[in-house]
Amino acid sequence: MTIKDIASLAGVSPATVSKVLNNKADSIAEETREKVLRIVKEYNFRPFQKYIQNNSFFGGFVGLLLPGETREYSDFISGAQAAACAEGYSMVLCTCRSEADREKHLSSLFGKGVDGIVLYLDRETNFEELLADAPDKLVCVAATNLQSASGQCEAYCDFSAAAKLAVEHLIRFGHREIAVIGWRSHFLREDLIAGYNKALYEHEIIKQSEAICLCDSSEEITAFVRQFTCGSGTAFLCQDAQIAACVYRTLSHYGLQIPRDYSVIGLSAHSGPLDVFEPELTMMDVRFQDLGRSAVEALIGNIEGRHHTLEQLSPQLWPGASAASPLHTAGKRIIVVGSMNMDVIVHLTHIPTSGESLQAQRFLNLPGGKGANQGVGAAKLGGNVYAIGCLGSDQEGRLLYSSLVENGVNTAGVRIVHDKPTGKAYILVAENGESTIVRSYGANNDLQPDVVKAGAAYFEDAHFCLISMEMPWETVLYTIDFCLEKGIQTIVKPTTPRVIPAEVLKKITFLVPNEKELEVQISGSQPVEEKAASLFVSGAQNVIVTLGEKGCYLHNKELKRHFPAADFQAVDTTGAGDAFISALAVFLSEGHNIISSIQFATYAAGLSITRDGAQTALADRVAIDSYYEQQHSNDLVLEKN
Ligand code: RIB
Repeated sequence: MTIKDIASLAGVSPATVSKVLNNKADSIAEETREKVLRIVKEYNFRPFQKYIQNNSFFGGFVGLLLPGETREYSDFISGAQAAACAEGYSMVLCTCRSEADREKHLSSLFGKGVDGIVLYLDRETNFEELLADAPDKLVCVAATNLQSASGQCEAYCDFSAAAKLAVEHLIRFGHREIAVIGWRSHFLREDLIAGYNKALYEHEIIKQSEAICLCDSSEEITAFVRQFTCGSGTAFLCQDAQIAACVYRTLSHYGLQIPRDYSVIGLSAHSGPLDVFEPELTMMDVRFQDLGRSAVEALIGNIEGRHHTLEQLSPQLWPGASAASPLHTAGKRIIVVGSMNMDVIVHLTHIPTSGESLQAQRFLNLPGGKGANQGVGAAKLGGNVYAIGCLGSDQEGRLLYSSLVENGVNTAGVRIVHDKPTGKAYILVAENGESTIVRSYGANNDLQPDVVKAGAAYFEDAHFCLISMEMPWETVLYTIDFCLEKGIQTIVKPTTPRVIPAEVLKKITFLVPNEKELEVQISGSQPVEEKAASLFVSGAQNVIVTLGEKGCYLHNKELKRHFPAADFQAVDTTGAGDAFISALAVFLSEGHNIISSIQFATYAAGLSITRDGAQTALADRVAIDSYYEQQHSNDLVLEKN
C-alpha cells in the first residue's frame, strides 16, 4: 500500500494524502481529510519512517510496557492486542525484568514516536516518575490489579477481591477447610493470599498455615495436594488454570473425585468456560483479558480525542461443576491396611480332593486381595477410604491400582514395589460357589510397619481401621497398637494360621473370623457360640463369626445373637467376608447401631456371592439400600397379613 493507492481509494491526489498525513491540511476540506484518515486506518497504512519520527501521522503504533514476564501477563497482552487490532493499531510489547530494562524500553518507545503507551503499574512503579521524561504530546494510560494504584489508572481489576469471592463461594457450599495454591514468584501471589485470608477472617474461620501453598513446580503442587488430602480439608482455591489442572490430575491419581470428595475453584484470567476440565472447572474470572482490552481502548480513545473514565472490572463467576457441598465428614474415614492381589480364578465342578485330576470350566483374572477388596467395598458404599498396601510395578499392579482409583479409594498410601511381583491368589471355585485359596505374597511382603508409618497422617480423624492378616505379622501388631494409641476402632480378619495371643486380642475392637478361621484360633469340637465366647473372654471386644449360608453370630458385652444370611444363590463366595467387613465399617461409621450394621453387612455379603470374583462382585450403595427396602416392605406385608 502506497500513498498513491490511498489517493486513488479516496479519489484525491497523492499530494492531498501527503498533506493530510503531514498535518498540513488547512486548505483541505474536513470531509476529505476524514475520508483519507479513515482509509489510512482501515488499511493500517504505515508511511515512511520520517513520518513516524515527526510524530506527524494519525494512527499506528501503541506501546505496552509490562513490569514482568510475558507468561504472567499473557491474558492481559491478548486482550490488549485484540483491542489494538480492532482499532487499526499495531502494538509494541516491552517486558521488563529490572529497573534498567524499564528505562531502556521507555526511552526507546519515546524515541520511536509511538502514539501512546499503556503502562502496567505494580507495587514498585509510579506513574508520574515513569513519565518524567516523556515527550510532551505523548498519551499514556495505566492499568493495574492494585487497589492502591487504581487512582492513577484508566483500567483496574481487583485480583484480591476475586480471590476473596472465590473462597466465599466455597464457604457458601459449607467448606471450612480450604487450601490455597499459588505461584511463589508470581506478581499476584500477595493479592491471592490477601483475598483468601480476608474471606476466612470475615467468616470467622481460623486460618491454617499448612493450607497455604506457594510453589514453583507441578511436583510441589502434587506433594501438597497429597498431604492436604490426609487431613480433613475439603476444597482447593487455585491461582490459575495450570494449578487447577495439576490438582485435578493429582486427585484423580489418588482415586478422589471432584466435587464428590474435593471441590476445586480456579481464578482465571481467561474469559469464558475452560471446557478442557472434566468436570468443568468452577472459575472466578479475574477479567485480565478485559483489563488489557480496556487499557488499550482508553489509550486509543485519548489519542483520538475521546474521553475515557476509569473502567473498574468486577470479577465474574463461571459456575462450572467442580464446586459443591462437601460430602464427607471426618468421622467416616476408614483406613484399610492389607493385601492386594491379582486373583487367578479357576471354576470347577467341585473342589478336587487329593490325587484327583479335574478339567477347569473357565479361568478368570480379577482384582482381589483382602485389603484392596475391603477398600473398594467400603468406597462403593460411600465410605471415605484410604488404602495402605503394596503393589508390584507390573501389569497386575497397574490393573489393581486402577481398580482402587476407579472405585474412589484414596491410594496415596499405596506403595509401588519395583523388585517384586504383585501378590497373587489362585482360587478354585466350585459350582456351589465354595472356594479355596492359595496365595503368593509377592509385593505384600513389603507391607512392613514403615509403610503404615508413612501413612500415619491418614489415621488422624479416622473412625475405623480394617486389618486383614495377609501381611507381615509385625505390621499387624504395629497397626493394631497405632490404632489403639489414636483411639481408632479396629476390625480384624484373622486369615492366617497364626493364633492371636490374648494380649493382642485385648486391643481388637471387632474380630471377624469365618468358621475355618475360628477353628484356627480355638480348635476343638465345641460349638461356634462357645468358641466366640472364649475369644471374647480373652479380650476381643466384639466377636462376629461369619457362617456362610447360616448367617453370622455376634458375641459382645451386651449381645449373644445369631443373624440370618441374606437369601441369594451363590456363584462365587470368595470375597463375601470382605464385603461383610467393608459394609460393617461403613454403616457403623455412619452411626448405625451394631444390629442394623450387621444386617446391612449380611446383605452386602449376600449380594457379593451372586457374581464372579471378589472385588468385581462388591455391591454398591444403591443395590444394598434397595435390597434393604425390599426386605422391610416384605416385613410390613407380613405384619399386615
Ligand atoms: O478374601 C478374598 C481374597 O483373599 C481374595 O481376593 C484373595 O486375593 C485373597 O487375598
